[in-house]
Amino acid sequence: MRAIHELSQQYGFKVVEDASHAIGGRYRDGAIGNCEYSDITVFSFHPVKIVTTAEGGMALTNNSALAEQMSLFRSHGITRDPLQMTRESEGPWYYEQIALGYNYRMTDLQAALGASQMQRLQEYVERRHEIAARYTQELEGLPLVLPKQAEFSYSAYHLYVIRLDLDAIIPLTHAEVFQSLRERDILVNLHYIPVHTQPYYQKMGFECGDFPNAEAYYKTAISIPMFPTLSSDAQDKVIAALHDVLAK
Ligand SMILES: Cc1ncc(COP(=O)(O)O)c(C=O)c1O
Repeated sequence: MRAIHELSQQYGFKVVEDASHAIGGRYRDGAIGNCEYSDITVFSFHPVKIVTTAEGGMALTNNSALAEQMSLFRSHGITRDPLQMTRESEGPWYYEQIALGYNYRMTDLQAALGASQMQRLQEYVERRHEIAARYTQELEGLPLVLPKQAEFSYSAYHLYVIRLDLDAIIPLTHAEVFQSLRERDILVNLHYIPVHTQPYYQKMGFECGDFPNAEAYYKTAISIPMFPTLSSDAQDKVIAALHDVLAK
C-alpha cells in the first residue's frame, strides 16, 4: 500500500483500497481503514466476511469532499445540510436534490447487527489468529505452501489459503485433493477464479495467460475452514484429513 501510495503521488492517480478481507487487521502500525495510503477504503459486510450486516459494506475516507459526495450517492443525491443547499430553506421540511444518486441506504436492523458485531471485532480476529497458528504448526512438513504474514502486518485472517506443491504430490492433482477433502465433509473452497478468465472479461479481450501469476496461484490454492467458531475438534478433523489425503 505504501508503494502504491507513493506512485499515486508521483503520477496523480487516486487509490481506492479494497479491504473487504482486512477489517480488524493492521498495516505498518495503523488500523486497516485509516486511509493513510488511500483515498477511499472499502469493507464488505457480506455474510461470509469477518463482520457482517447480512449484506452491505462501508466506505471510509479522510477527504470531506469525497465523504459528502458518497453521502449524496447513498440517498438519491438529496441533502438536508444547509451548507450544501443552493437556495434558502423554505421550512423545516425542506431538502434539496443536488445530484443524481442511488438508494444505497442501510436499514436500521442491519446497522444494529453491524454495530454489535464491531464490538467483537478484536475477539474475532484474535480467534482467527489462534486457528491460523494451529494450522501452521500442524500442517508443517506437508507438501504445502502455508500463508505467511509480513512482519509489518497483522493479518485479519479472513481466509487461510494453502497452496499445493503439485510436483511433490504427483500423481494427485489439485482437483483430486479438493474433491477428497469435500468427500471427507471438509468444506474447502477456492478463492478465487482469476477474474480475467471469466466470460465477461474474455469478451472484453482479456485472455488466459495474460496474468500468469494469478493463474499459477489458482491452480494450487485451496481455502480451508477458517471462522471464529471453528472448534478444536473440527479443526483436528481438517488437519487429519489433509494429512490423510496428502499422504497418498
Ligand atoms: C476482495 C473482495 N472485494 C469485494 C468483494 C465484494 O463485496 P460485496 O459483495 O459486499 O460487494 C468481495 C466479496 O467477496 C471480496 O472478497
